[in-house]
Amino acid sequence: MIYLDNAATSFPKPEGVYREMDHFARTSAANPGRGGHRRAVEAEAMIEETRRLLARLFNAPRPERIVFGHNATDGLNMAIKGVLRPGDHAITSVLEHNSVSRPLNRLEQEGAITLTRLPATADHFLDPDAVARAWTPKTRLVAITHASNVTGTIQPVAAIGRIVRDRGGLLLVDAAQSAGVVPIDLQREPIDLLAFTGHKGLLGPTGVGGLFVGERAEVRTWREGGTGGDSTQPVQPDEFPHHLEGGTPNVIGLAGLRAGLRLVLERGVESILTHERAMLREFQKATRRPDRLSWYGADRVLADCNGDGRVGLLGLNVAGFAPAEVGAILDERFDIAVRPGLHCAPYAHRHLGTFPQGTVRLSVGILTTVEQIRQAAAAFDELTA
Ligand SMILES: Cc1ncc(COP(=O)(O)O)c(C=O)c1O
Repeated sequence: MIYLDNAATSFPKPEGVYREMDHFARTSAANPGRGGHRRAVEAEAMIEETRRLLARLFNAPRPERIVFGHNATDGLNMAIKGVLRPGDHAITSVLEHNSVSRPLNRLEQEGAITLTRLPATADHFLDPDAVARAWTPKTRLVAITHASNVTGTIQPVAAIGRIVRDRGGLLLVDAAQSAGVVPIDLQREPIDLLAFTGHKGLLGPTGVGGLFVGERAEVRTWREGGTGGDSTQPVQPDEFPHHLEGGTPNVIGLAGLRAGLRLVLERGVESILTHERAMLREFQKATRRPDRLSWYGADRVLADCNGDGRVGLLGLNVAGFAPAEVGAILDERFDIAVRPGLHCAPYAHRHLGTFPQGTVRLSVGILTTVEQIRQAAAAFDELTA
């Protein structure tokens, strides 16, 4: 099987991730902080190490400001619903995944907030000046993706963050497609809230993710419950990470994430990104009839700049075939896994002009090989022949 759906979830996971989860499940997966015994202490220590590894990866000032949840969706909902107050204005963009768009749309529909959705440029980037132009005295939050899961373009989050900070607002960055693939420096870049998922570029299993909460952001408690520590307080404590972490965490998932993070840190984010861009270039080079494919995403960026400015995914369409048909043929005839459709990002496809059918997304990962890419290019050649 050739797996080119890493933007949905990375697969297979590196062997070390499977081994660590299996080992942890059998030896130490007790309830962290909920018992004084050795296994509970080991589980707690593993979670704190996972937090420290994430803090190292993102250069976060304080590990405890990284809170764990189920996925990026959880982190984004926590941030959006925990920060915005009735009467606020928020700014977002057409490039967003539904996990940003839907919570914001819901608040807007309920009349709680007003919302501005910024367009993208013809090259599929956001213009920082557009954020400045959309600003109102009521603007509290700017919520944008770091890398689009449809076009692959990496957005100028630092430039946008400077504008947001100058005006006293908060910047929420959706790092679902960038964490583990694009360098992120939370001490240098003006990012107040960063949502991440554990199962894509961080190489962990599904079911783990979360949110970094900077000092400037006040996020209301999300789910209240047991923290394993001080049980005497009538409501969720103010201290991080417990303020936003209630209930038993996904201990085995976090053990897998720890193993994934170690691999990412060992290999280095820049080296992973270089590999992924090289795989995209290989695909472009290997297709014999590139003119018979419609290439979506930052075409100029890919053609002129060796893929700088984008992560390892491509949107394509084949003339005469619906994206869903291409996906089915690749799966059934060639055993190649890709993701056709709207990729949970309907506004991005409206921007591209590919709504409602979408595109065929090919997304590479740390384990993708040149040979696999050449086979995938050959399959597209057969389809376009
Ligand atoms: C840009 C973007 N944001 C958010 C998400 C949501 O991630 P999760 O499903 O892990 O919550 C995804 C997942 O595909 C994504 O690509």
